[in-house]
Amino acid sequence: MPIIVESSQTNADVFVSVTGADSRVVSNLDELKRSMSDSPDEYAIVLGPTVDLEAAASLADTLRVTRPTVSVILIRRRVDTSVLAEALRSGMREVVDERDLTGLGAAVSRAEQVWRALTGSSDTPSAASRGKVVTVFSPKGGVGKTTLAVNLGVALAQNGARKVCLVDLDLAFGDIAITLQLFPARTIADAVHLQSGLDFPVLEPLLTEYQDGLCSLVAPVQPDAKDTIPASLVGRILSLLKHNFDFVVVDTAPAFDEFVLQAFDETDEMLLVTTLDVPTLKNVKVAVETLDLLNFPKPKRHLVLNRADDKVGLSAGQVESTLDMAIALSVPTSSQVAHATNSGEPIINAHPRHPVSQAITRFAGTLAGPPATGGHKVASLTGVGTPKRSLLRRNGR
Ligand SMILES: Nc1ncnc2c1ncn2[C@@H]1O[C@H](COP(=O)(O)OP(=O)(O)O)[C@@H](O)[C@H]1O
Ligand SMILES: [Mg+2]
Repeated sequence: MPIIVESSQTNADVFVSVTGADSRVVSNLDELKRSMSDSPDEYAIVLGPTVDLEAAASLADTLRVTRPTVSVILIRRRVDTSVLAEALRSGMREVVDERDLTGLGAAVSRAEQVWRALTGSSDTPSAASRGKVVTVFSPKGGVGKTTLAVNLGVALAQNGARKVCLVDLDLAFGDIAITLQLFPARTIADAVHLQSGLDFPVLEPLLTEYQDGLCSLVAPVQPDAKDTIPASLVGRILSLLKHNFDFVVVDTAPAFDEFVLQAFDETDEMLLVTTLDVPTLKNVKVAVETLDLLNFPKPKRHLVLNRADDKVGLSAGQVESTLDMAIALSVPTSSQVAHATNSGEPIINAHPRHPVSQAITRFAGTLAGPPATGGHKVASLTGVGTPKRSLLRRNGR
């Protein structure tokens, strides 16, 4: 993902619209240095018009030796021969006029090609170090989204073998903190005043560790804090987390709100949750049609039937034929799921052999592939946030 150095937020937003939501924006060259040490696979640095030419040239001169796979792209308000000469001397790869957004897009693509040629990788640079975003969604509340997100997070983390971050995007009424009995020092609302220059080292202290390999970015405590959070910030946060965790599991509100839509943009796998009742099924059907309109790829959608063994006159087969989707995960009903929720311990931890735990663990295995060997992502969970568990916590954890 390209890093854009630009102190004007308005300019930066325009450049990001061309270079992609994955791009990181930093406001000066000092922040860039910090950001670069965090991204060994970086392929493009875009220096905006507010960056001083001499400082830009000095940076390019250093990077051509220390990071030859990185292309420096200079954006200027006016491109004249003196700018071009300086750029050439310092080893910048491209100079683009500020108004030439097509030229900027082309320069970034060329930078990606150079990266591939020099590293011999057939991946895109970002895919080479990217985790997966798994979004749990349903247009209905109370169907088990949070339960699934939390237990899937635990299953994917495999006691620390993988790094997983649970993100609560039910920004008004998020339940992840209470479900895990976390009393976090920070929530996603704290990212709002950090958003200029937000990078992973800035974001990391907002995460609250739950257990080895699993941490959470929880929803604001007050519902109205939701209104202070720009949707674009959510996209940026998910993109940063994706590059620093093996899995980012996103729990959502039961609505196609702007935050959920941002999450869809970053989503690699979506779990669409339904239960065996007609109003839910009707709304999930509408959700599927909306996903079609949004061109959300079908292979990324996975239907989850929660409370799959309820005897309520609707069968799993009818769900599949109504939605024209195969059920990827069936989770039975059990009072132990509700007990686990109420005791603040996910059922996978409380009863790993329970049929609900086994079904979710198996599904996590299909999402993650072979068991992880660990250590292949950069996020360190040591020093993450300040874990605060409830004194009401039970089961000795
Ligand atoms: N398979 C299940 N069996 C029994 N209770 C369940 C099951 N799945 C979820 N629940 C319970 O249903 C309630 C709502 O679940 P939750 O995950 O909060 O739904 P959502 O996030 O969709 O609103 C919780 O009390 C939870 O413990
Ligand atoms: Mg919920």
